[in-house]
Amino acid sequence: MKKIFQILMLITVGLFMNSCYYDAYPEYEEVDNGGGGGTGGVEISYATNIVPLWNSCVGCHNANRAPDLRAGNSYNALVPQYVTAGNANGSPLYVKLADGHQNLATEKLALIKTWINQGAKNN
Ligand code: HEC
Repeated sequence: MKKIFQILMLITVGLFMNSCYYDAYPEYEEVDNGGGGGTGGVEISYATNIVPLWNSCVGCHNANRAPDLRAGNSYNALVPQYVTAGNANGSPLYVKLADGHQNLATEKLALIKTWINQGAKNN
C-alpha cells in the first residue's frame, strides 16, 4: 500500500514538473504548421492579433512607403508580396522584423511568425 502511494506521488511530481517545463516556453514559439501546436491549438487572428501591431508602423508605412500598413490596406499590401503563407523564414516581412527593424518585441515577432506559419489567413 505504501508503495502504491509512493508511485502515485512520483507520477504527481512528474506531471507537476512537466507542466512547469512547458510553461517556461514563450506562448507563441515554434509553430510551423497549421496545427498551432505551440499556441496550444490557438489560431492567431489577423484582425485581432496582428493588425494592432501595425499601429507603430503607419507613421512611416502608409501611402508613401510600402508596405502600406494602414487599416484596411495592410493585408493586401503584405500578402503575397511580403508574406509567403506557411513560411515565416521565407517572408520578407518576418525577415526584416527579425533582423531588428523597429526593434519589435520578441512576443510580437513570435505572433507574426505564428500567424504566417498558420497560413497567413485574413481571419
Ligand atoms: C520611422 C519610420 C519607420 C517605422 C516606424 C517602420 N518602418 Fe519599416 N521601413 C522604414 C524605411 C525607411 C524602410 C526602407 C529602408 C529599409 O529597408 O530599412 C522600411 C522598410 C520596411 C520593410 C521592407 C520594405 C521593402 O519593400 O523591402 C518592411 C517589410 C517594413 N519596413 C515593415 C515595417 C513594420 C511591420 C513596421 C512596424 C512594426 C515598420 N516597418 C515600422 C521605416 C519605418
